[in-house]
Amino acid sequence: MDGRAFQKLTCGLYVVTTVHEGQKSGCVVNTVTQVTSSPAKVMVAINKQNFTSGILEKAGVFHITALTEEVPLPVIGCFGYQTSAEFDKFAEFETKVDANGCPYVPEGAAASFTCKLVQQLDVGTHILFIGEVQDAEVTSEDNPMSYSYYHVVKKGKTPPKAPSYQPE
Ligand SMILES: Cc1cc2nc3c(=O)[nH]c(=O)nc-3n(C[C@H](O)[C@H](O)[C@H](O)COP(=O)(O)O)c2cc1C
Repeated sequence: MDGRAFQKLTCGLYVVTTVHEGQKSGCVVNTVTQVTSSPAKVMVAINKQNFTSGILEKAGVFHITALTEEVPLPVIGCFGYQTSAEFDKFAEFETKVDANGCPYVPEGAAASFTCKLVQQLDVGTHILFIGEVQDAEVTSEDNPMSYSYYHVVKKGKTPPKAPSYQPE
């Protein structure tokens, strides 16, 4: 199998955040896709070992920000390479809270989505979470970040817990 074929699947870059009983959590993902329009639903695949998947299951609500090409790299470094189990990722940034109480970082976000968990599917290493979009907002006119822009221009890497990870 040619692993390079998977790099031809285009996608963007996002931060999924949630909160349950005061425990905040969030991680970078490249797996957000809109799956229906009426009502609008989105899906995201989150690794079972990511702290965020356990909190999201319990919370039943989540928030998605679609990152721009201008997003400060510390946002990706914090949410994509460290775990919410160990510290408060949100303390480093200016944070807003959506109608469900989910915190999110507006800096470097092109759009922002407030979601209610309506279905989930165990797909092995990851859980596919499907959320109904309760509210959506455009927060910047900067270009949304594509995954290839992240790799080619930003020279970003993909850690092992991302479904798109390719061993060297
Ligand atoms: C570019 C990039 C893409 C990623 N995509 C995903 C993804 O789609 N799903 C996933 O579960 N983790 C993905 N990750 C990994 C998580 O962001 C990472 O494991 C994070 O530290 C988990 O944080 P948590 O333990 O607080 O949930 C990605 C990370 C990066 C940097």
